[in-house]
Amino acid sequence: MLSFFGINLSAASIKDVDCKTFSKLITAPGVQLVDCRTAEEYAEGHIEGAILIDYKLSDFREQALGTLDKSRNVAIYCRSGRRSRAAAEILAAEGYTLFNLQGGILSWTEEGYPITTNTNDMARKNFGVKTYLYPQPVLIIGTYDEDGTPDAMNAAWGGISESNRISICISEDHKTTKNLLQTKAFTVSVGTKSQMVACDYVGIVSGNDVPDKFARAGWHATKSTFVNAPLIDELPLAIECKLIDYNPETCILQGEIVNVAACECILGEDGKIDPAKLEAISYDPVHHKYLVIGEAMGNAFSDGKQLK
Ligand SMILES: Cc1cc2nc3c(=O)[nH]c(=O)nc-3n(C[C@H](O)[C@H](O)[C@H](O)COP(=O)(O)O)c2cc1C
Repeated sequence: MLSFFGINLSAASIKDVDCKTFSKLITAPGVQLVDCRTAEEYAEGHIEGAILIDYKLSDFREQALGTLDKSRNVAIYCRSGRRSRAAAEILAAEGYTLFNLQGGILSWTEEGYPITTNTNDMARKNFGVKTYLYPQPVLIIGTYDEDGTPDAMNAAWGGISESNRISICISEDHKTTKNLLQTKAFTVSVGTKSQMVACDYVGIVSGNDVPDKFARAGWHATKSTFVNAPLIDELPLAIECKLIDYNPETCILQGEIVNVAACECILGEDGKIDPAKLEAISYDPVHHKYLVIGEAMGNAFSDGKQLK
């Protein structure tokens, strides 16, 4: 039996409480305050410090389980007390101990208790171990096999790791990996809007199974003059790399950048790469979509000076 501000309750149970009791409860150390209304209702006004877990969402239970600690009491509310009661029943069945605010936030405000629209305390939803980083690139790695047949694959897990180095996480069993270990070279082209379908194709088909994959993507290869790897005629921006290292344990490929080759078709009047012409695409790891990049909206190393 737990005793809490004079209220006795068994573990994994629900107690409906009035505003006065609720206001005391939520200041107790370790209590998890949950607003189970919608994000819109929450934004209009909520009890300070409340975690938003929308009861109406299909994954309410999963969200709650991922966010709330069963060893700590949960104080829950909604608009009128009905949704929170239903939500509390779900959570009690999972082993939580709950206090439900009778009359919800309607009674709370009627009785003069404070609410806030401050979203600094907006609850975050925990997704656990995911690769949800934005933006993620669409890197098209080009290689030759021992016969000089080009291959290409799509990789999102990579980026610049030194002024002359690129690091990408690629699996050992890819045809690309076998190729670059032999040739000690590869190119990395930037995926583009006009070539999105082909970029995706080379990410879902392996050169191990489809030897003419590169040609089937509709692509043509021109050998780099710097390294033994193909430039892809249809992709206007490429980094040409010498293999530094590939570690099968970590799957990290490291390449030394020996040149960057850009088609004149993507250069601006200043002779530099124009991102608006490049129309690079980015991989959205949450929805498995491709997004287009290109609109300038600020000046790096400069706009921040306003706050200095
Ligand atoms: C959007 C997207 C991102 C990908 N990112 C990676 C990655 O970062 N590392 C990796 O090893 N494979 C990644 N892949 C999978 C490879 O591109 C895929 O297995 C490909 O068929 C390998 O081709 P290959 O065997 O001809 O080298 C990705 C695929 C897609 C569609």
